[in-house]
Amino acid sequence: MNVIVFASRKGGSGKSTLAAHLAAQIKATKPCLLIDADPQGSLTLWHKLRGTNEPPIKAAINSVTGIVAAARRDGVEWVLIDTPPNTSAVVEDAIKNATMVIIPARPGVFDVNAVQETIQTCRAARKPYAVVLNGAPARRDDAESPIVTIAREALAKFRAPVWGGQITNRADLLMALGHGEGVREYYAEGRAAAEIARLWAAIERSVKAIRGSASANGTMHKQAA
Ligand SMILES: Nc1ncnc2c1ncn2[C@@H]1O[C@H](COP(=O)(O)OP(=O)(O)OP(=O)(O)O)[C@@H](O)[C@H]1O
Ligand SMILES: [Mg+2]
Repeated sequence: MNVIVFASRKGGSGKSTLAAHLAAQIKATKPCLLIDADPQGSLTLWHKLRGTNEPPIKAAINSVTGIVAAARRDGVEWVLIDTPPNTSAVVEDAIKNATMVIIPARPGVFDVNAVQETIQTCRAARKPYAVVLNGAPARRDDAESPIVTIAREALAKFRAPVWGGQITNRADLLMALGHGEGVREYYAEGRAAAEIARLWAAIERSVKAIRGSASANGTMHKQAA
């Protein structure tokens, strides 16, 4: 079983958004469980709007360990955990249970600076992690926005692995959430859906490498900015 934890002490970086879209991406093919460990309940709200209980969701208050252990016994393949924007006990507990941690960051200077604490927590727990630049300006003429390049340079100084792609700031991502959908369900041919699919493929590749069933070359958790 693979446990993907979305963590960042910076509010609004995209933890719940990425968790929801990726959950909708995988639920069709694999047994998946969502854990909402954030009392704000964003993922739970999306799940209510969805109204299908597919994938199922559980709320965690102080610890996720019991829920993760039960999921393993039940044969769940993927567990996605959304966490609150702080470094509380439940975030540490989620990271301890992680196969891999995704740290979303917007490409602004404050945002990039704020990932350091979460990176430290991942390193202390010896957990693979990768920063995912989210809410980025769209690429133009196949070049990324200067602000994204600057963010990658800053992250390189922390020696943080960073996904080579980006999740662009797109209304489709918001519209889909408002319907309780993932963006692939909302508009499968759109660019937002393509980016989420690419992120999911990168996570799958990393997890295979972490499990030892594929080469780690070029995987997102090894990719220095
Ligand atoms: N790539 C994107 N394009 C458009 N809107 C986005 C994108 N990423 C996030 N948002 C929107 O920005 C807001 C904050 O994102 P989100 O709630 O996912 O962040 P979070 O890290 O979970 O925040 P918190 O720490 O408060 O839980 C939401 O309204 C979300 O839908
Ligand atoms: Mg959230």
